[in-house]
Amino acid sequence: MATEAHDVVTMEKIVALCKRRGFIFQSSEIYGGLASTYDYGHYGVLLKTNVKNEWWRAMVQERDDIVALDAAILMHPRVWEASGHLEGFTDPLVQCLGKCKRRWREDHLREAVEAEGGDPNAELRCPECGGELSEPRNFHLMFETNMGPVKDEGSTVYLRPETAQGIFVNFKNYMQFARKKPPFGIAQVGKSFRNEITPANFIFRTREFEQMEMEYFVPPDDAPQWYEYWQKARFDWYTELGIRPDHLQLRPHDADELSHYSSATSDVEYLFPMGWSELEGIANRGDFDLTQHAKFSGEKLEYVDSATGDRYVPHVIEPAAGADRTTLAFMVDAYDEETVEGRERVVLRLHPRLAPVKVAVMPLLNKDGHPERARQVYEMLRTRMNAEYDTGGSIGKRYRRQDEIGTPWGVTIDHQTIEDDTVTLRDRDSLDQTRIAIGELADELTRRLHAPWQTPKLA
Ligand code: GAP
Repeated sequence: MATEAHDVVTMEKIVALCKRRGFIFQSSEIYGGLASTYDYGHYGVLLKTNVKNEWWRAMVQERDDIVALDAAILMHPRVWEASGHLEGFTDPLVQCLGKCKRRWREDHLREAVEAEGGDPNAELRCPECGGELSEPRNFHLMFETNMGPVKDEGSTVYLRPETAQGIFVNFKNYMQFARKKPPFGIAQVGKSFRNEITPANFIFRTREFEQMEMEYFVPPDDAPQWYEYWQKARFDWYTELGIRPDHLQLRPHDADELSHYSSATSDVEYLFPMGWSELEGIANRGDFDLTQHAKFSGEKLEYVDSATGDRYVPHVIEPAAGADRTTLAFMVDAYDEETVEGRERVVLRLHPRLAPVKVAVMPLLNKDGHPERARQVYEMLRTRMNAEYDTGGSIGKRYRRQDEIGTPWGVTIDHQTIEDDTVTLRDRDSLDQTRIAIGELADELTRRLHAPWQTPKLA
């Protein structure tokens, strides 16, 4: 099993790169920042959008059994009673009674003790100042707000803590319009909010985040088989997009870890610099959600076979991933440093389909017709893929900037271009430079973009 010692990457290096190159910034930075909230800059937006698009491609575009949904963030408060979130969505919190008065998640403290070989049931002390800790109290994780002009009990609504419930409450609509029968799925990407006690590790655990969730409705007897299927399908999605397989694992939950709705859950975990951590959970939710919403809403939420008249409440297999965590994992896995001809370079070896910019077009000189021809080439390429016209600084400096944002190809316009309409095409990873006619460039880059790809870190 790989360990973090084999990697040059650290969380500090990723945070610094994200700020330096405009991927991710601290939110409200000029006011001193708001704890654990982040803003995505230009390249971060492009990267996260590519991650979500790859998820849509795998979940909807390349299948015929899954359809899309974009439900509202605010939902009827009864939804959260039915789902169990109002009652059960709490974390056990302990407070330091000593000097620092900090609050901690009790379960996280016990996990940390166990990870270091200690007894997780022994009495805990404050990790910060060694003080005594209070008895655990349950802390509610949903953000509350009010709807309408009068703030009273009846106006309370919640920011959704998961996108999944939007899918369950639309089940009946989809039965009527989508002409689907189990097995079929409904997929959704969107923001969720949790008032986490211990947000941590940059964008890994924040209070506002994006989820990519799919609820797959199946005949009850087929649920175990589809649970197996989705574990493999989701694991493969990450490796096909370049994550090193030895940095990825499926970890089945122990019985005492399962959520109130789940009879089985496996996490897809990535080996981050801080250790193995969850990217996605695949859960067998049984008929819990549809049965609860039927009970609370009074609507029948079941599948009726029009040919046989058979009716049943489908069971649900749910792959639930985080777009921010996944984006972070792709960056961490891609981060590399090397020395080329005596010079250090940092390079993000992202899968070309994930790279924010696919090709940078650069005039060698800022004269002799190079900028004009480069601009024409750039305008031709940008109709096919995300391209950038880069004129700032020496050519070496421009390559270094493009390497750091993970641009897989660089095109240089030079003297020869003006004579014979060919350009130099540079590969980010192999550093090979080939000469290619401008007329063939767009097709060649499109071919490379869709070719099977493996991270050079495995070579
Ligand atoms: N509907 C099931 C559900 O929400 P979850 O394991 O609580 O399950 C699914 O969340 C995924 O959402 C997680 O695997 C993680 O990637 C992401 N996620 C959850 N809480 C998060 C947080 N506070 N910050 C960032 N991502 C989070």
